[in-house]
Amino acid sequence: MREVVVCTRQELREKGQLVVTVSDRPVLVVEHEGQVRAVDNRCPHMGFPLHRGTLHDGILTCHWHHARFELSGGCALDLFADDVPTYDVTINDGNVAVSEAPRRRDERAHALDKLDEGLEHQVSLVLAKAAITLDERGAHDAALDRAARFGVGNREQGWSTGLSVLTCLANLRPHLDPAARPRALFHGLLDVAARTAGNAPSFEISPLRDVDDRPERLLGWFRRLVETRSRDAAERVLATAIGRGLPPHDIATMIFAACNDHRYLDEGHILDFATKAFELLDHLGWDAADAILSSLVAPLARATRMEETSTWRTPVDVAATVAAATPDFLTALAAAKPPPPRGWYGHAEVAATALDAEPDETVEVLVKHAAEGVPAQDLSAAIAYAAALRAAHFPTSNQHGDWDTVHHTFTFANAVDQAVRRFPSPLVARGILDAAGSVYLERFLNVPKRPLPDGNHDPATTQDLLATFDVHGRVDDAGQIVAALVAQGQAQAVVRTLGSGLLREDATFHEYQILEAAVRQWSQFAGRPEGGHVLVGAARFLAARYPTVRSRGQTFDIAQRLHRGEVLHDLDE
Ligand code: FES
Repeated sequence: MREVVVCTRQELREKGQLVVTVSDRPVLVVEHEGQVRAVDNRCPHMGFPLHRGTLHDGILTCHWHHARFELSGGCALDLFADDVPTYDVTINDGNVAVSEAPRRRDERAHALDKLDEGLEHQVSLVLAKAAITLDERGAHDAALDRAARFGVGNREQGWSTGLSVLTCLANLRPHLDPAARPRALFHGLLDVAARTAGNAPSFEISPLRDVDDRPERLLGWFRRLVETRSRDAAERVLATAIGRGLPPHDIATMIFAACNDHRYLDEGHILDFATKAFELLDHLGWDAADAILSSLVAPLARATRMEETSTWRTPVDVAATVAAATPDFLTALAAAKPPPPRGWYGHAEVAATALDAEPDETVEVLVKHAAEGVPAQDLSAAIAYAAALRAAHFPTSNQHGDWDTVHHTFTFANAVDQAVRRFPSPLVARGILDAAGSVYLERFLNVPKRPLPDGNHDPATTQDLLATFDVHGRVDDAGQIVAALVAQGQAQAVVRTLGSGLLREDATFHEYQILEAAVRQWSQFAGRPEGGHVLVGAARFLAARYPTVRSRGQTFDIAQRLHRGEVLHDLDE
């Protein structure tokens, strides 16, 4: 590698240390214990100039947060800081020369190692730097794989909301501004780290040997074991089914059947986790099925079954209504006439019934349409649309916490819709009735019903939309602007902007979840008014929760500036 003469040996001896510029980067050259060393002068933690630090016994200590670095190789002793890049030095004819670039290292491998450290020790800046480097080097999928396996392997309690966030953001990636993609990876990594911290590791359960592995037998066992909350035994049956090479559709049927054996488990989160786990496998590949899917069993076995709660029982016994209608619904789907040749467009009509009618009327409508040949996936989309409208019609006079109620139903209904599309089966389609039941149960949150924005609004821009997220309470403004942008044909830009807005915030699980679900539904309804209404509902939900402190964004910005080689602290100015 080419090198540059930066000083004489004599000059260095006289001054002890020098800061020189090499290829536009500040480099600290020091003589220590008879050796000349050169390191990047910006502390890899937060950029403080290292020449202001202390050098003793081969260790350079930064004076900002006291990170320590081994001088000759640049390795950080403290895990919150990255390693400092080092330069080759040669002495010739009394001159000190420094290589034009830092010593080469495999940046991809280094970033993956740092990603592991960041996850293990919850170091946000290290994770931000790893995300930037890995995204830049086209290693997003490798990072996703590393984080997903870490997330399931280090959480004895099984699948976490962190893994859902990671998956939501991987799914949203194509819709995001390319500049926002490393930021999205960073948010996913942070949530995985946060949800594994302090948890016991999870140990693999071996499959059954010499077993009767007919799919229907394993399906029956799995459902019965989940029914009795026998977590380990159910996990062993699942491991057996995967190990015996049952097709993904059969494995999915086992899991979704158990999700639907009771009503709306854990406010719908369990079925949504299952959907996300299969979507995560789309990114990772089926080889990861055992590791990823086994993490679903613990939350599935311990979940609250909503028919055991008074909400689903009184004053209207929604659980009983759903249970009673299930056989007719499944028979109707199985014996249905051929689907309408030009497609079916009755989603808004079914949604209106689901929003305002009694539950027995809604299930009757669903059974009738199923018998007429309307595909299950259209009925699941109609109920997901109804659930999205709850957020679009949500009056701000409700309690703030009630946003979570409409959020739960919408993300559950979307998860059912995704599962029905991917794994058509009566055992999966049953969830449509649960989703309809939940839409009914939150009818009081649309009293009075906020009208849908009509889109007849002054021309609006995506900047206007972002501005609504800077002030608390601009829920209706956000909805109006989204409607106007959609009317101007800018729905794609709305999605991108909602993504950028989300990644500015210290979002919680629900914000990632709702945006991802909304984008799914918007894509399915693309070009139809229903798609715009879904975005309005999501934007109103998000506006109700913004702005946050935005500390994640600040950390990421620091990492990005360090990555670009910018000087963060110039104390000599
Ligand atoms: S330890 Fe050096 S900037 Fe924080």
